[in-house]
Amino acid sequence: MWTKTRVTSALGIELPIVQGPFGGGNSTAALVAAVSNAGGLGSFGAVNLAPEDIKRTAQDIAGRTSRPFALNLWVPIAGQDDALISEAELARIAARLRPYFEQLGLAEPRMPERFAQRFEAQAEALLEARPPAFSFVMGVPDRAILAAARARGIKTLGTATTVDEAVALADAGVDVVVASGSDAGGHRSSFLRPVEASLVGTMSLVPQVAVAVGVPVVAAGGIADGKGIAAALALGAEGVQIGSAFLATPESGAPEVHKELLGTPRARLTRLTRVFSGRHARGIENELMLALADHLDEVLPYPAQNWLTSPLRRAAGAAGKAELLALWAGQNAASARRLPAAELLRTLVEETDQVLRDPRLRPRAAPHGA
Ligand SMILES: Cc1cc2nc3c(=O)[nH]c(=O)nc-3n(C[C@H](O)[C@H](O)[C@H](O)COP(=O)(O)O)c2cc1C
Repeated sequence: MWTKTRVTSALGIELPIVQGPFGGGNSTAALVAAVSNAGGLGSFGAVNLAPEDIKRTAQDIAGRTSRPFALNLWVPIAGQDDALISEAELARIAARLRPYFEQLGLAEPRMPERFAQRFEAQAEALLEARPPAFSFVMGVPDRAILAAARARGIKTLGTATTVDEAVALADAGVDVVVASGSDAGGHRSSFLRPVEASLVGTMSLVPQVAVAVGVPVVAAGGIADGKGIAAALALGAEGVQIGSAFLATPESGAPEVHKELLGTPRARLTRLTRVFSGRHARGIENELMLALADHLDEVLPYPAQNWLTSPLRRAAGAAGKAELLALWAGQNAASARRLPAAELLRTLVEETDQVLRDPRLRPRAAPHGA
């Protein structure tokens, strides 16, 4: 049975299907629990959560499901995440966004004490909260954090965008490697080489990662139906991580206008852009993305740009203004269906069963006389 793999046994789940975590407010405990209760691995993107909120979120999810789930963090990239931004520089960049802030009735941003949460404090809170699984992107956490996770029985999933990153994660002792192709929605998590030099599609990345590492591999990027799952398994993956298709479910925290665009032809028009957060991420083209793309010298590095645009994106979501949102989506987001999460999961399993039963996939017997 295709559903029994080293991923399901490592994580203690029934189906080798991970609901991709969504940072930036798009994760909900309801979505995570719905997926986990239906046999997959629900994941909560906790990158923006303060340590105490990480603990609260873990409790909230544990109150809704007794099955395994994952909390997800972003590992800081040394030399990138710690750039010093002066007040004058912040004001210069904020000026470019002023018309949009005004349009949404938002006040001028004021220099904060920090642009993002401290990873070390988040990781400490996560370890204390002891979720069944800890998934992460953008790097390899310190050896001590991984050892502490192991000691607490927390399974780890590290994300690779290249074979070298997969090997680095496997060498560090992660339980599962998520191979995230450049088709995927949301941020590229490349940490060994620049994003532009690490754009490998899922179809090329997964089979190479699967032979390069001894740990089981989960394929991510562009998977939205049973055909994609069957293809990932054929490439050597032992599980899949699906983002955009779960973002479209009623349980996800994405703004309604964002969900409405997933599953439509417009969702075919995605680009990698760093205008929203300062770091490359894939989303559907919209007015704000295209307008800011003409002024890339007026984009701060991550996390400052992310901090600067987040009130704008939050307000745009609440006001239903899709043109001012970051419409994160993968290259196959147009195939997303607006089904409740558990129903989507059931549909994915049925479709995969069907594809794998298709006689055209069986190796043909050699013709007589051959
Ligand atoms: C809105 C959005 C937010 C995301 N945030 C995160 C995140 O915080 N951490 C992470 O590991 N992956 C994140 N991802 C990536 C997904 O978890 C998943 O790997 C990816 O969406 C798979 O590609 P697909 O969208 O083509 O299915 C995000 C994706 C989207 C669409």
